[in-house]
Amino acid sequence: MTTRFSAAGIEMQLRRYPETADANLQAWDAADEHLLQHFCEAGELPKGPVMLLNDSFGALCCSLKQRWPETELLFCSDARTGHLGAQANLTLNDLAPGNTGFHASRELASLPVPGLVLAKLPKNLNFLADQLRQLSGLLPAGTLVLIGAKAKSINKALLENIGSHLGPAQASLAWKKTRIITVVADGKPRPPLSINRWSVPEYDLTLSNLSNVFAASKLDIGARLMLEHMPTDNFRSVIDLGCGNGVLGLRAAQLYPEAQVHFVDESEMAVASAEANWTDNGFKDKGHFHWDDCLSHLDESISADLILCNPPFHQGEAITDHIAWQMFNDAKRRLKPGGLLQVVGNRHLGYHIKLKRLFGNCKTVASNGKFVILQAWC
Ligand SMILES: C[S@@+](CC[C@H](N)C(=O)[O-])C[C@H]1O[C@@H](n2cnc3c(N)ncnc32)[C@H](O)[C@@H]1O
Repeated sequence: MTTRFSAAGIEMQLRRYPETADANLQAWDAADEHLLQHFCEAGELPKGPVMLLNDSFGALCCSLKQRWPETELLFCSDARTGHLGAQANLTLNDLAPGNTGFHASRELASLPVPGLVLAKLPKNLNFLADQLRQLSGLLPAGTLVLIGAKAKSINKALLENIGSHLGPAQASLAWKKTRIITVVADGKPRPPLSINRWSVPEYDLTLSNLSNVFAASKLDIGARLMLEHMPTDNFRSVIDLGCGNGVLGLRAAQLYPEAQVHFVDESEMAVASAEANWTDNGFKDKGHFHWDDCLSHLDESISADLILCNPPFHQGEAITDHIAWQMFNDAKRRLKPGGLLQVVGNRHLGYHIKLKRLFGNCKTVASNGKFVILQAWC
C-alpha cells in the first residue's frame, strides 16, 4: 500500500484507518490531489475557518494544516473512521491539530460560518442533498464550495441538483479522471430534508433512516434472512454490530426482553437513527448506543452472549473484507465464554473460512441463493 502522499507541493505519509495490508487501498484518491491543486492555485485562503466535508482519512485536513498551520479547520464527517483516520494522520505527520474542530455531519448548520468549504462527493446523493441544505442556511451568498469527485460521477443532472440545494454549480476540466465542482452559495436557506419513515409490518416495527444510513426505505435482503433465523435462547446482553437503523437489535429486544442491547455503528447518523427507532418502537431502558469503529473503543466492561452482524463489504468506494474481518475479531474478544456470533453474508464472500479460522468452528444455519447465515461460538 502506498502511504507517500504528494500533491500541490505538499508531501506527507497518509494511512487508512484502520490500517490495512491490502496493497490496493490507499488513504486518498486523485480527487483529493485535484482539489488541493485547484485550490492551492489561488495561493491565499479566504477569511474565516475552512470547512472540510467527507475527508476520508484526513488527506485534506493534514494538507491544510501543513500549508497553513494557523487556519481554523472544521472537520465534518459522518464516519468515525474518518475522524480517527484524520487524527492518526495528523499525529503521524507531527502536525498539531491546534484549532481544528471535529464534528459529526449532522452538526453542520450550527457550526461557525466558514470562509470556504472543501468537500469530497459522497456516494449517497441523498446525504449530499442533506449536507448542502444544511449549508444553505449557514453560508452567506457568494461563499465557495469546492467538491472533488470522479469525472464519471458528474453530469448535468447532478449539477442542477446541487444548484437546487445550495446555488449555481459548474464543473472544471478533467484531471486524472476527476473534476472539481465549484458551487457558489446563493444565501437562500432551504428546509431540511424530510426523514424517511417506513414500516416492517411482519415484525411490527417502524423505522426511520437519517440521510446517510444503509437500507433507506426497505429491508436489506441479508437483514431479512437474518430476521427469519434469529437464534433462540435466553440472551442477556446483545450487540448489534454495524447496526444501521438498528433493525436487528430491535428484533433482538422483542425476542429477548431481558437483554441489554448495544447498537454500534461507525456512521453517526446510523447510531442516531437506531436510537430514534428504539424510542419510536416503544423500547425504554436497556438500549445503549455507540458511535465506534467496530468495537474498538467500547467500554471494557461490555461483553455479550450474542452478537448479530451484517457486515459491510466496502469502505467508502473500496470493496474490501477487512472491516468484516475486524468485526469478527472484535466480536470474539467481546463474547462471553459460550457466546454466539451470528453473521449474514453474501455466499461468495467466504466468511465461513474466516470464522472457522478465528473461532475454530462455524455452522451454516440457513441459506438462500445469495446469502448464508453463519454461527460461530466462543
Ligand atoms: C450491511 S450494513 C448493515 C446494517 C443493518 N445492521 C442491517 O442489517 O440492515 C453494514 C453497517 O456497518 C456499518 N459499518 C461500516 N464500517 C463500520 C465500522 N468500521 N465499524 C462499525 N460499523 C461499521 C455501516 O455504516 C452499515 O450501517
